[in-house]
Amino acid sequence: MRTAIKPAEGRLGIVMPGLGAVATTFIAGVQAIRTNRALPIGSLSQMGNIRLGKRTENRCPRIRDFVPLADLDDLVFGGWDVYDVDVHASARNAGVLDPAMLASIGPALEAIRPMKAVFDETYVPNLDARHVKQAATKMDLAEAVVEDLRRFRRENDCARMVMVWCASTEKYTKASEVHETLDAFERGLRNSHPAIAPSMIYAYAAISEGIPFVNGAPNLTCDIPALIELAAQTDTPIGGKDFKTGQTLMKTIIAPGLQARALGIRGWFSSNILGNRDGLVLDHPDNFRTKEVSKLSVLRDILRPDLSPELYGELYHKVCINYYPPHGDNKESWDNIDIFGWLGYPMQIKINFLCRDSILAAPVVLDLALFSDLAKRAGMSGIQEWLSFYFKSPQTLPGLRPEHDIFKQLIKLQNTLRHMMGEDLITHLGLDYYQELVEAL
Ligand SMILES: NC(=O)c1ccc[n+]([C@@H]2O[C@H](COP(=O)([O-])OP(=O)(O)OC[C@H]3O[C@@H](n4cnc5c(N)ncnc54)[C@H](O)[C@@H]3O)[C@@H](O)[C@H]2O)c1
Repeated sequence: MRTAIKPAEGRLGIVMPGLGAVATTFIAGVQAIRTNRALPIGSLSQMGNIRLGKRTENRCPRIRDFVPLADLDDLVFGGWDVYDVDVHASARNAGVLDPAMLASIGPALEAIRPMKAVFDETYVPNLDARHVKQAATKMDLAEAVVEDLRRFRRENDCARMVMVWCASTEKYTKASEVHETLDAFERGLRNSHPAIAPSMIYAYAAISEGIPFVNGAPNLTCDIPALIELAAQTDTPIGGKDFKTGQTLMKTIIAPGLQARALGIRGWFSSNILGNRDGLVLDHPDNFRTKEVSKLSVLRDILRPDLSPELYGELYHKVCINYYPPHGDNKESWDNIDIFGWLGYPMQIKINFLCRDSILAAPVVLDLALFSDLAKRAGMSGIQEWLSFYFKSPQTLPGLRPEHDIFKQLIKLQNTLRHMMGEDLITHLGLDYYQELVEAL
């Protein structure tokens, strides 16, 4: 049965805490695409197809033609940053996109200036923040963000909004008592509890307004019981954590393949260098720890050493990130994978990926914004596990093992879209019609 989905009428406001490399590459990219200067490469929602029905039916529309997504022409952008720099200047500073291309779309980007940020230097020590809200309590800060959201909606005539966290990675924290219930969390906001991070304040503001919230960094943010409770109360989709790009994207493509062929893995050493502001923030051990935990969880969940101790029980997995300014946003990563095959004979795989971090992340922001808006219009709320495809460390309900295998994640995403649109789910069984084909030959 088809889910009732409200139409994508009117403008969709996409607001982002953090107007740095990822956010500006995303905004400038959408502006270039809608003025026919470029194609939305890397965006599954815009460029991907989805098979419907049996293989014999040859129905394979573009996803954007299959589900009612917001049109790129209807998107408006805004955000907050600790530096008062417009999106054009911030994109130039990030050094990701060609300056000539940026100049050609400059005026649209110059018009987007950041709102004052909610910031706490104990969560991101490596930044010298200058454009920051001042308030007596963390609850006052949350109310100021709610006010920003309402003003943005009004001034930009938005029918709907989504918020995507594109700000720096906060220091590593674990959920504690103040995150356990909405009551405790709201009390904590009023008392300015130190364990409530800025990202949680933005998430609280968005979710209390019923605005879908997506977390692109590995911070806890909305992955706490209090905000899951609030999302249920306000019928709001939420999701995270940490955009899956670069080295981890490669890991979740390669590891499921090795595991599918029952090949053993003894060691996986991942090292990378990057020189953007993200790299600078991650150069602090507390912030690196947050990223490390997110990156390390992937292999364990794909390979399941508990089920196959002979193949993966000895696996040594190491991840290093090195700040190296000369490379800017052009991250270079090296992976050395020690595998073993028949009778235990060792082999090695070496990967040297020269990627562009924000070029990989921008289409992920677009898809997450469009799909979480779709989820909201389809009446889906709470954790959107079907969007795990886009995350390094997918948020799940407590007790549920996240799915990291990118191919299973894709099947889940596509089946969710089929389910919403009342199409048959695809199991890839085929036996139900194979015999008919054989007989017809
Ligand atoms: N680029 C990728 O491939 C990728 C992949 C996964 C996750 N991420 C995460 O996405 C985030 C953005 O990455 P980036 O390369 O754009 O980094 P960036 O440093 O260029 O941009 C982050 C921006 O956030 C701002 N900021 C920091 N704290 C803030 C706050 N409390 N409120 C508002 N603004 C704040 C900073 O001033 C900066 O401009 C990082 O957390 C990064 O770890 C990026």
